[in-house]
Amino acid sequence: MKILVTGGAGYIGSHTCLDLLQNGHETVVVDNLCNASRESLKRVEELSGKSIRFYEADLRDAAALDQIFAKERPEAVIHFAGLKSVPESVAKPLLYYDNNINGTLQLFQCMQKYGVYRFVFSSSATVYGAPKTVPIQEDFPLSVTNPYGRTKLMIEDMLRDLAVADPKFDIVLLRYFNPIGADISGRIGEDPNGIPNNLVPYITQVIVGKREYVRVYGNDYPTPDGTGVRDYIHVTDLAQGHTKAIEYMQQHHGLHVFNLGTGIGYSVLDVIHAFEQVIGREIPYRTMERRPGDIATCYADPSLAEKEMGWKARFGIAEMCADAYRWQSMNPDGYGA
Ligand code: NAD
Ligand code: UFG
Repeated sequence: MKILVTGGAGYIGSHTCLDLLQNGHETVVVDNLCNASRESLKRVEELSGKSIRFYEADLRDAAALDQIFAKERPEAVIHFAGLKSVPESVAKPLLYYDNNINGTLQLFQCMQKYGVYRFVFSSSATVYGAPKTVPIQEDFPLSVTNPYGRTKLMIEDMLRDLAVADPKFDIVLLRYFNPIGADISGRIGEDPNGIPNNLVPYITQVIVGKREYVRVYGNDYPTPDGTGVRDYIHVTDLAQGHTKAIEYMQQHHGLHVFNLGTGIGYSVLDVIHAFEQVIGREIPYRTMERRPGDIATCYADPSLAEKEMGWKARFGIAEMCADAYRWQSMNPDGYGA
């Protein structure tokens, strides 16, 4: 199938393009490169032996998007493009509403105009807010605590409205838990700008000597060792979830929601220790205050995705850490090297 991938040059998008190409699909990428580099897609082409048609364009540029749809006539859209930093969204909410909401609106309008009705959306476990219980199932109540999360929930709501208004739309909402790791080749991976917000790129930068020690945000949570617990999922497994969603839509119509996680929760200290196993030495860390807005525990019940789409995460924490480390050590300065 010919699939338009927005944000395809980014971390999850580049891994998904690789999986799609390896499964016989054709990919057209639209990305404004505000948080990515053209190099990621060159490497996906090299790994897959296939070519990607790339358009450097902003989704909010209605004329550019219209031209791309008119020329390419995609059969489905996977929508990754968006800004994703929680603290930045708190500081600059209008930037987030403009980029994430207006960009998505333009995309829906083009899809309707050109009769493209298959859509996969990058949603997030953030839409569950602070869950009362774990594991989290797809029908748990939804709530958000920051502008980034609100853009995800708003887009989910827009999609639920679209599915009611126009039954031609086939939509899969994928709620990701914590994507980490990198393709096993070490050629593509996560390349954050500046100081990483997220735990794993921070740890890998400590390992290669770019940062002094890991900051552990809080050790007084109601968890087995007091540090926050998350459901880390290998980005290659996550990427495969998108290919499965595209295949699923060909048989199942309407709107469907799936958690993509492993169902296993690891604490911050568990993750640090898993990296220590990979590198064979201790990783320096210091315990700090809790980070505002963090919750204690978050992990998925991923059984619906397995039952419905036949998707299940294959990689464990040791592989996630080994692959994240390989990417960081082969590319200490990310794609900028
Ligand atoms: P990323 O920043 O690496 O990728 C997003 C891509 O979108 C970038 O390449 C960026 O240049 C592009 N982009 C942003 N705004 C654009 C616009 N207006 N027009 C065109 N391109 C634009 O992020 P990622 O980690 O790959 O995340 C992909 C998606 O998954 C995002 O929507 C994110 O919110 C969602 N998500 C990510 C996580 C995570 O932890 N990484 C968790 C849950 C959900
Ligand atoms: N943490 C640290 N030190 C750090 C960074 C994080 O101790 O330097 C801790 C956090 O307190 C948390 C855990 O590590 O307990 C994971 O934090 P991340 O920042 O890696 O990930 P989050 O769970 O906070 O959020 C991520 C994405 C969100 C997304 C969410 C659910 O950043 O965008 O997963 O999908 F919404």
